[in-house]
Amino acid sequence: MPDITRLVLLDHETLRRQFADLDDAQASGERSAIEAAWQPLADLLDLHAETEEVVFYPRLLEVGDHAEDETEDAIEDHNKIRDAVRDAAQREVGSDDWWGAVGRARTENSKHIAEEEREALSDFRLNADVAMRDELGRRWLEFRAARQRPSDVDAKDKDVDEYLAEHAPD
Ligand SMILES: [Fe+2]
Repeated sequence: MPDITRLVLLDHETLRRQFADLDDAQASGERSAIEAAWQPLADLLDLHAETEEVVFYPRLLEVGDHAEDETEDAIEDHNKIRDAVRDAAQREVGSDDWWGAVGRARTENSKHIAEEEREALSDFRLNADVAMRDELGRRWLEFRAARQRPSDVDAKDKDVDEYLAEHAPD
């Protein structure tokens, strides 16, 4: 069965590889290559954040030792990443402003996934049994299967307080 913590790591690796591909596209100097490298990456950044917010963090809040802090950090980081992706979408691909927005997405994503691996994922492994990890892995895959197109993804920023009020146990 799929362990959710592995599925999150797989996405993180894909994102790193896609940013590396964007470097290669930039080196080519071809706008079409840059666009082709960026769009799937932008889509995955939004999809990854939403999947974690729907499938992973609500359960971490139930079992984790430091889950409220970890969740608060994650939602704030996801919002910063989404803001940068949205900003890039409003600018001309390859322009200085566009690269500025893409650079912010990259910096925020790098910081976020490192922190998430060190804290939230570790906390979850220490507190969730194998059955829970597999059950969430299954839900992760089902959630993904239902979101094949970028328009299926909810890329709106989340209010941290509202999120915690909805998902944190009393
Ligand atoms: Fe995340």
